[in-house]
Amino acid sequence: MTRKLEKFVDQLPAINTIKPLEVKNKRAFYEIKMEEFTQKLHRDLEPTRLWGYNRQFPGPMFDVNKGEPIDVKWMNNLPGKHLLPLDESIIHHDPEVRTVTHLHGSETRSDSDGYPEAWFTKDFKQVGPFFKREIYHYPNRQRAATLWYHDHAMGITRLNVYAGLVGMYIIRDQEERRLKLPTGDYEIPLIITDRSFNEDGSLFYPSQPNNPSRNLPNPSIVPFFLGDTILVNGKVWPYMEVEPKKYRFRVLNASNTRGYQLYLDSGQSFYQIGTDGGLLPRTVKLDKLVMEPAERADLIIDFSKYEGKSIILKNDLGSNPDPNDETFDVMQFRVTKTLTKEDTSKIPKRLSTIPSLKTGMVAGYRNLKLIESNDPLGRPMPLLNNKKWEDPVTEKPRLGTTEIWSFINTMPFTHPIHIHLIQFQILDRRPFDLDFYNKTGQIRYTGPARPPEPNERGLKDTVAAPAGEVTRVIVRFGPYSGQYVWHCHILEHEDHDMMRPFIVRE
Ligand code: C2O
Ligand code: CU
Ligand code: CU
Repeated sequence: MTRKLEKFVDQLPAINTIKPLEVKNKRAFYEIKMEEFTQKLHRDLEPTRLWGYNRQFPGPMFDVNKGEPIDVKWMNNLPGKHLLPLDESIIHHDPEVRTVTHLHGSETRSDSDGYPEAWFTKDFKQVGPFFKREIYHYPNRQRAATLWYHDHAMGITRLNVYAGLVGMYIIRDQEERRLKLPTGDYEIPLIITDRSFNEDGSLFYPSQPNNPSRNLPNPSIVPFFLGDTILVNGKVWPYMEVEPKKYRFRVLNASNTRGYQLYLDSGQSFYQIGTDGGLLPRTVKLDKLVMEPAERADLIIDFSKYEGKSIILKNDLGSNPDPNDETFDVMQFRVTKTLTKEDTSKIPKRLSTIPSLKTGMVAGYRNLKLIESNDPLGRPMPLLNNKKWEDPVTEKPRLGTTEIWSFINTMPFTHPIHIHLIQFQILDRRPFDLDFYNKTGQIRYTGPARPPEPNERGLKDTVAAPAGEVTRVIVRFGPYSGQYVWHCHILEHEDHDMMRPFIVRE
């Protein structure tokens, strides 16, 4: 699709921090408009028509302190027609352009969580059945973490996000400040996405699956989407000039389907200090890092021994056999800047304390199967526990109680499972015989349970549930009651019924 785009010719864009419109009684109030605009994504591409928050892709970054709540008015100022091929044969609400913003990873009341059916149109003229309020409230009571916001509108999240509706949201706290991590110019967000382009520079998103053997509508949803071009902070394969010192990178995989396994072609290790829900208990030294959609990784890379060198951030996951596939490169670091002052930042060994949920009482266990099925048109439609979005709510944990959820993945590929409202802990993963399961419907374990990887031993809101494994997480439901969602974060799955409501009961 995309013509060959030269790599590492554009500088990595810095992402600006949004300022509040006003601060009243110590409560900051922000306004964000979703609009259509064009932005240059590569030196040799015509400006691309996008949808973004405040005319930016990615949107502006929120940078807030723990304990300081904020209010945000998310406004839809988009045109009446969708930018991308819209399939009306899956769960569909009218009108076609509808938005609702979700702050992923946040502990937020349900009326500000961005429930998919709480969508709204331009000037709030029309709203979905779950719409409650125009101004969203974020308490920011949770520990320091890298969160992100993105669109979550019913049935079209994949398209709205692909069009550009994503941004980062950072919460800071004292605990983290005391660690003397690299900061200021040395703390950099990296928002990784994949896209494909048409010749004229416009976004390409398929209007039908590759070989539509059956009589499918046009447009028709695709079962997954992998772009052939990698962007970081809204630039195609950018480069960044760095000093020979330590940098902190807050990495987010904001791609629709694509997972990455990141490494540096210099062969050097790097350090992971945080995950979805904030700091890890201790620093983890890594050579490779897997990131499924929606996962965040807080990294430190030390460039001090690489003066004058160029280092490529590479990816060796999901590259398809296509010889034209170029997605093994992500971006380039050039250690060409002179050291402005001595590097006094630290890579601490111990970072934080995370009380284990395992020591408490467990009020409930749920076996939740990830099952392949087909929709009425015969298209693949992976489901959660064989239930569709519109089936009655089945998961109703009680406020303040702890449950263990087992994601039993009976499909041949990984699904990143996300639960709203809470940060959970991963207990373990255990392989079972997939063939035997497919014949008998029974789980026969083929090995012992594995504890989570060292870099998963913090708080998580999204977990990779690999094929043929039972992935167990332990969750304490709170601090709010209400109706939320849990789902696969492959957006093509989420939009096609791999999403379920849940209710935290009083
Ligand atoms: Cu990142 Cu339900 O979303
Ligand atoms: Cu979320
Ligand atoms: Cu999935």
